[in-house]
Amino acid sequence: ASLQMYVDELPQIPKLLGYTPSYGAPKPGKLTIGMYKTSWKFHRDFPPTTVFAYGTSAATATVPGPQIEAIQGVPTYVTWLNYLPDHHILPWDPTIATAIPKNGGVPTVVHLHGGIHPPQSDGNALAWFTANFRENGPKWTQSTYMYPNVQHAGNLWYHDHALGLTRVNLLAGLIAPFVIKDPALEAKLNLPSGPEFDRHLMIFDRSFYMDGSLYMNYTGDNPTIHPQWQPEYFGDAMIVNGKAWPCLKVQPRKYRFRIINASNARYLSLSLTNGLAFIIVGSDTSYLPSPVTSSNILIAPAEIFDVVVDFSLAKASEIMLTNDAPYPYPNGTSPDQLTSKVMKFIIKPEAPAPYDKSSVPQGLKTYATSSITEATTKRYIVMYEYQSSTGNPTHLLINGKRLVDPATETPKSGSTEVWEVINLTGDNHPLHLHLAEFQAIKVQQLVDLAGFTTCMKVKNDAIACNVTSHATGSLLDIPAYEKTWKNVVKIEPGYQTTVVVKFNLVENDTPYPFDATVEPNYLYHCHILDHEDNEMIRPLKLVK
Ligand code: C2O
Ligand code: CU
Repeated sequence: ASLQMYVDELPQIPKLLGYTPSYGAPKPGKLTIGMYKTSWKFHRDFPPTTVFAYGTSAATATVPGPQIEAIQGVPTYVTWLNYLPDHHILPWDPTIATAIPKNGGVPTVVHLHGGIHPPQSDGNALAWFTANFRENGPKWTQSTYMYPNVQHAGNLWYHDHALGLTRVNLLAGLIAPFVIKDPALEAKLNLPSGPEFDRHLMIFDRSFYMDGSLYMNYTGDNPTIHPQWQPEYFGDAMIVNGKAWPCLKVQPRKYRFRIINASNARYLSLSLTNGLAFIIVGSDTSYLPSPVTSSNILIAPAEIFDVVVDFSLAKASEIMLTNDAPYPYPNGTSPDQLTSKVMKFIIKPEAPAPYDKSSVPQGLKTYATSSITEATTKRYIVMYEYQSSTGNPTHLLINGKRLVDPATETPKSGSTEVWEVINLTGDNHPLHLHLAEFQAIKVQQLVDLAGFTTCMKVKNDAIACNVTSHATGSLLDIPAYEKTWKNVVKIEPGYQTTVVVKFNLVENDTPYPFDATVEPNYLYHCHILDHEDNEMIRPLKLVK
């Protein structure tokens, strides 16, 4: 039996101010946010679900957790506290590289996704801690994190990052939005604003047992190798802001939606019915130079699109938000009756069209550009999948290496590099780097993929296998809505994607100060969480 769709109202995600309002300039904000085991109603007709949730108390913790609103240039300090129980609510796999405390407890560590911040505040997978800081991972240094917020104003999110447990900790509910605002820019742009017309849509898929509890498989596809891990988690219910298939009553006017794909592994290919399109104004932490109108957006896990929808142009009073991305993407199954539907907008019939003072200006924001010629270093980043004798994936690696292998990506603070990212798997992977902004500038098919892959299996070296003679096939278009500084870039299977990466730069392209007294450890990884956990994740070590 399936749940009735569109009966729950889209929740407003509660907001915490990451600054202290004051006369004159706002002052730094100090927050304390806990992780709690609590229960959450994902649907009106469904029993409450036990979750892990962020909040300022157990009673107010929500899924997603509270959005933090910061102001550009004003630091936010957050003390992260773990109040989680001795045992996880979901099954996990001790045979993959995992934080396993000796005395029980659920390891957690918070990462501000998209943040340019000091390494001690990055939320490294090895900086995990259990309740009351009873145990810490080897890279744990402090309980209060400092987010300087000196980067581009835009959309970020925060989520758990504990070693080998990221997929289960996020599935359990440890996800939330974060926004850095530049008030002068926002006033100038005059996009739809205020809590009613500027909304987050944090979208993720989940499966449930009939008693309301979250479903995560107990047995993996290769149980003799990894008893529980499986290569992708796909749920059969679509959740937005914590409700399954919600609805939102709207006025016939413009709305701004900050859409975050917080799924473990599911790509979203979103469309609107009844003649409406997305006017895309930004992606990840950056605006686009000018708005891009598209009837469809493809959003990888962890990717963010900032869009405007003008409901005054609708041809009917009910508009569906739909998804048609195959899973796994792009060569998997098409979504079914349940996962092809996301939410519904109902234009209030009684509302007279109110005067909509918001606008979508033709010029949004331009940033300093970097050209490929400025790059000081070129790196080859090769994505591999390994399989068991039965053909099931056992793990995925970048350049054949694991997280514990010494850092090979050691960019200079403030530098620009070119990463040639080569995808030898059958799936698209969302590449995410901490501390960096980047964009794809060329996506070119690898010819003789089989021969190149065979060589790579032996030599594990793109240059020795002469990638330049293989990356000569057809070019794929990069959608106009992705042409800005991003922190997640989709990497097409069978292609080489040329990515220009800028490290550790803040607004106006100045490097964030490099502190030589702390170990500059960051990470980069695939943001399909099941891949990241096993073990498509590598250290990224900044150098001066
Ligand atoms: Cu959104 Cu390293 O993560
Ligand atoms: Cu991946």
